[in-house]
Amino acid sequence: MTSDVIKKLNKIYAEALEEVGKGKLYAQRRVELEIKYLGRKGKLNDVFKEMAVLSDSARKEVGVLANKLKSDLKLQLGQAQLQNKKSATTITFDETIPGARPKIGSLHPITQFLERIMAVFSTLGFEIVEDREVETTVYNFDKLNIAFDHPARDMWDTFYIKIKNKKEKIKNKEESSLVLRTHTSPVQIRAMEKRRPPVRLVVPGRVYRHEATDASHETNFYQLEGLVIDRNISVANMIYVLHTVLKQLFGDKVKIRIRPSFFPFVEPGHEVDMSCIICEQKGCSVCSGTGWLEMLGAGMVHPVVLKNMKVDPDKYSGFAFGMGVDRLIMLYHGINDIRLSYSGDLRFLKQF
Ligand code: PHE
Repeated sequence: MTSDVIKKLNKIYAEALEEVGKGKLYAQRRVELEIKYLGRKGKLNDVFKEMAVLSDSARKEVGVLANKLKSDLKLQLGQAQLQNKKSATTITFDETIPGARPKIGSLHPITQFLERIMAVFSTLGFEIVEDREVETTVYNFDKLNIAFDHPARDMWDTFYIKIKNKKEKIKNKEESSLVLRTHTSPVQIRAMEKRRPPVRLVVPGRVYRHEATDASHETNFYQLEGLVIDRNISVANMIYVLHTVLKQLFGDKVKIRIRPSFFPFVEPGHEVDMSCIICEQKGCSVCSGTGWLEMLGAGMVHPVVLKNMKVDPDKYSGFAFGMGVDRLIMLYHGINDIRLSYSGDLRFLKQF
């Protein structure tokens, strides 16, 4: 019985040595052989199981042999792999090869430009305010004097998600809904909940619209809202600020003009145009031959909106404006498709 087990062990050992000697022993092969012969379910351990029937002294004898064979085999495997490594072609490290330059990213062109605009406003003493992109219809419309059934809401058509919030119920008993803000104007109201006049603030941020996309329309884009409230603020102050900012951004030659327009939250309302910087007013495709570019919506803050801000319209007045930041960037860099900014295409982004 004992000799049977010993024979078996020796046979397995011989078999294992033969396999070790066959071909080159790469790491992978070494692991395979280790598992096959020395592993928990390996061949040598199988024999251990048969030892249960042996007498104590026989078991001891076989045990000693089995352990010796195991450690021998381990040694053989190690040496064989070492041998193989030595014979392999030596690869030396060439320290003169230039290293792989790490790729350094850059700020997105929109971020870069927003920072420029905000730097200009900061020098004029404006505070920078940010707020939520998911807004209630109460702030996006109602508090901005856009009544529930007023056709002006069509200018900011979007998707509505109904919410039940008793506190923000609006006058005509319609319940408030959540929308992705369609403009940065609701932040005028939000900001004035925590401030008292005089205020000078700008609000950069992403806005969302229900749009069919094309080269000049996107479903999301950036706006920069401005709000100034103080005593004796007039349209003249508004023109001065906007002209100064546009000159700082596009150069001293820039002229502006204002046209009457309608936004429910301002009275009077204006559209502000800038002289075409591409053709210097000779007429080109960017300005459709008019020499003027539509830049922003603006106006004197409506008394109803001032009241919604808990500001007394008899004491204070103010102006507000909203610029399409993407439009400015496109003009500044000569980009002809708004969608490029949101495409994540590195060929585009690497240019900034
Ligand atoms: N919120 C307006 C828009 O999105 C722009 C605007 C802002 C107009 C402030 C007047 C005053 O079109």
